[in-house]
Amino acid sequence: MSDITQQELGEIYDFAIQLGKDAGSLLMKFAKARWGDTGNGGEQLFSEKDNAVDIVTKADEDVEAFIKSCIEKKYPSHKFIGEETYSKGASREYLIGSGPTWCVDPLDGTVNYTHLFPMFCVSIAFIVDGEATIGIIYAPFLDQLFSACKGRGAWLNQTQRLPLIRNPIPPLPARAPGGCIFSCEWGKDRRDVPDGNLHRKVESFVNMAAEVGGRHGKGGMVHGVRSLGSATLDLAYVAMGAFDIWWEGGCWEWDVSAGIAILQEAGGLVTTANPPQDYETADITDVRLGSRLYLAIRPAGPSETESGRQTQERVVREVWKRVRELDYSRPGA
Ligand code: IPD
Ligand code: CA
Repeated sequence: MSDITQQELGEIYDFAIQLGKDAGSLLMKFAKARWGDTGNGGEQLFSEKDNAVDIVTKADEDVEAFIKSCIEKKYPSHKFIGEETYSKGASREYLIGSGPTWCVDPLDGTVNYTHLFPMFCVSIAFIVDGEATIGIIYAPFLDQLFSACKGRGAWLNQTQRLPLIRNPIPPLPARAPGGCIFSCEWGKDRRDVPDGNLHRKVESFVNMAAEVGGRHGKGGMVHGVRSLGSATLDLAYVAMGAFDIWWEGGCWEWDVSAGIAILQEAGGLVTTANPPQDYETADITDVRLGSRLYLAIRPAGPSETESGRQTQERVVREVWKRVRELDYSRPGA
């Protein structure tokens, strides 16, 4: 891996954990300024980016500036990609190369944050040779810190190893997606066009939820459908084992890279959301970070007849069978 030694990686990991805690505390300070008898009222100012649900607040910008300055001070040779800095540029290209790169969402779940729905967090990834190597997610309202570094385990609040149920780690249900919690996101593409992304997502959600035998054989009868409004927290909850499946299209590398580092370190699988033509037999490969199409499966142990990986791959194919292809693109992808 690049020329970073294991000792340096350990130091970067410690730095990233502290940075996540500090940035999360700053987010919470902004949130708390609004509430209580001495708060500045319910008003939460935000401005729109691509459309009315794609928004940015002062907290997004100030927390990104804080994180960027801490990284630049400590690691001036590392590259920095942050959502708000990137959004201001004209390019939508994938900018992560092989050098050490920080990929940061200062506030994932901005809509939640503006409504004070607790599912918001800071998400920090350190990427080496194109691979998400360290992931830190801190949700300050919940006081949940998720962290992982390649080869050092994935953790909740630095004490509970992920997945939480691990003695043994359960296989995925034999009748999956039945028995699974399916997590998904409505996303920001709300164009009401026939067969657009919004309609394809809804059709996929209904397929996953409907009774077995319904929807012309596509009914998945999942245990539950959840939508947190934060892609990176969705991934953290898959790593925890609370969600079995996460399926989403449209988010960007800063929304997922920390979550992917944590989930992969916990033993989860992340591949593409879009079903290949030969979905029953196609090779299941690791997702491309910048692909904007993600399907994640929780860590799984063996059953009597399958290895953990086999149970995960079976569930990938069961999801692919039920979901529509989504259309999100970017230059060069
Ligand atoms: C959004 C959230 C949401 C996902 C969107 C993201 P933001 O990030 O992660 O769950 O569906 O695609 O853009 O704007 O809150 O940082
Ligand atoms: Ca954000």
